[in-house]
Amino acid sequence: MGFIDSSVPEQHTIVNVGQLTPFAIGGTRLCFIHPEDSNKCIKVLREDRTPQTRRQLTKGIKKLRPVKHWDDQQKELTAYRQLLARDTPALWHHIPEFFGSVETDLGLGIVTRIYRNFDSKFPRNLEEEVPYGIDDSLKKGIADFKSWLRRELVVTRDLLPHNIIVVRDSLQHCRLMIVDGLGNSEWIPVSTWFRSFASRKIERKISKFNHRVESLLVNQ
Ligand SMILES: Nc1ncnc2c1ncn2[C@@H]1O[C@H](COP(=O)(O)OP(=O)(O)OP(=O)(O)O)[C@@H](O)[C@H]1O
Ligand SMILES: [Mg+2]
Repeated sequence: MGFIDSSVPEQHTIVNVGQLTPFAIGGTRLCFIHPEDSNKCIKVLREDRTPQTRRQLTKGIKKLRPVKHWDDQQKELTAYRQLLARDTPALWHHIPEFFGSVETDLGLGIVTRIYRNFDSKFPRNLEEEVPYGIDDSLKKGIADFKSWLRRELVVTRDLLPHNIIVVRDSLQHCRLMIVDGLGNSEWIPVSTWFRSFASRKIERKISKFNHRVESLLVNQ
């Protein structure tokens, strides 16, 4: 049986990131290099994108939804924890390794691995990468990613090119990682009962993803 020593106070260390320069700024979050481990990334919500601010900006009946409805940060954490519980190593081939959450001076932070290219530069996301053209390594990277989606049945939000990074392990090889888009009402724990349902959903997502990638090529 577990034993909790109540004489040891729980540690609530706050990680200070507010004074740091983010390595990436998304539409919703700031991404910082973890000040204690440069291989890890801490993501916090931008001040203008907190659940409270988003609710204030919403008009009409939708405003009555509880604050947690707008809390994508919390939804993503829940999704990461559900994925961990599935205990399937292959799941993590295209999803960043997850190290839990931390309290920061800018609110709740999600901690994951930071991915870098073989030359230690930050990877570009697909929206930035595709306009340079799809070489053989990227073609293979995209194909591997789609096979993995079909095999592991990871149901995510829409597969948006700016939420998928292209990690170049070498000049000849790259790996796609979904850095954002886990966790929303569509996410369902896939058991064998749901396989065909999940497969159909994933095929629809892949088909939309293909169109998005093609349109990035056309617009180059
Ligand atoms: N683990 C990571 N390793 C390397 N780069 C990353 C990582 N996570 C995020 N990035 C980079 O940071 C950018 C923003 O991250 P993310 O998509 O999580 O932010 P967001 O604000 O939630 O996005 P959105 O604009 O879709 O709301 C990504 O497009 C990617 O280029
Ligand atoms: Mg994003």
